[in-house]
Amino acid sequence: MTAPVRDRLIVALDVPGIKEAEAMVERLGDSVGFYKIGMELAYIGGIPFGERLMRAGKKVFFDLKLHDIPNTVERATAQIASTGAAFMTVHAYPQTLAAAALGARGSDLGILGVSVLTSMGEDDAARAGYGLGVDDLVRRRARQAQENHAAGLVCSPLEIRSVCETVGAALQIVTPGVRPAGAALGDQKRVMTPAEAILAGADYLVVGRPITQAAEPANMAEAIIAEIAASVPR
Ligand code: C5P
Repeated sequence: MTAPVRDRLIVALDVPGIKEAEAMVERLGDSVGFYKIGMELAYIGGIPFGERLMRAGKKVFFDLKLHDIPNTVERATAQIASTGAAFMTVHAYPQTLAAAALGARGSDLGILGVSVLTSMGEDDAARAGYGLGVDDLVRRRARQAQENHAAGLVCSPLEIRSVCETVGAALQIVTPGVRPAGAALGDQKRVMTPAEAILAGADYLVVGRPITQAAEPANMAEAIIAEIAASVPR
């Protein structure tokens, strides 16, 4: 794992419009070097906005969670690869991972597999027809992401250990559901602090509301980066 400490914090720009996103990036200034743009912004100009961020020297992660027939996934991935983005997500099904790997060939785009949505509990998995429990499903998806040349896996903090046991250091682990001690949980239920997630093996932390809704977002980002720095194994 070689990313500089500051780039191990990825701020989720979950705001309603491009204007709000621009204002947040302005407020965060040099504190933050890596941003995640999800579907909420992607459909209203988030892709060109991400390209502007990259021209300004920031790294960008497009969290698009693609899942479609292989031809469509490959071609959509190639479009995203041409923006110069660092990461893009797909649902971690073997066919989809393989198609995304083809679309990203020859570019710097790293494909991240979404293991199992953290909103999905055991009963949701059973209702959706999965014969495996969530932990077994996460392990299987981690193995398949590795086999299909993904750069990494998105998983909840509580799944980091299972992913590490399954694929070792072969995949970068990108973890949402991170809350500084004392921060509001919002709708996240299974959380860890930044220090706990890094010590468990996360390579990147995705943090949204604790930063974007803080009174002083840049100070909160700096505090989290300091916590990451203090927790990185030497
Ligand atoms: O505001 P908060 O820190 O909860 O934001 C976390 C970000 O990570 C959001 O953009 C959310 O969509 C994303 N995410 C998540 N759980 C997943 C995958 C992505 O919370 N399993």
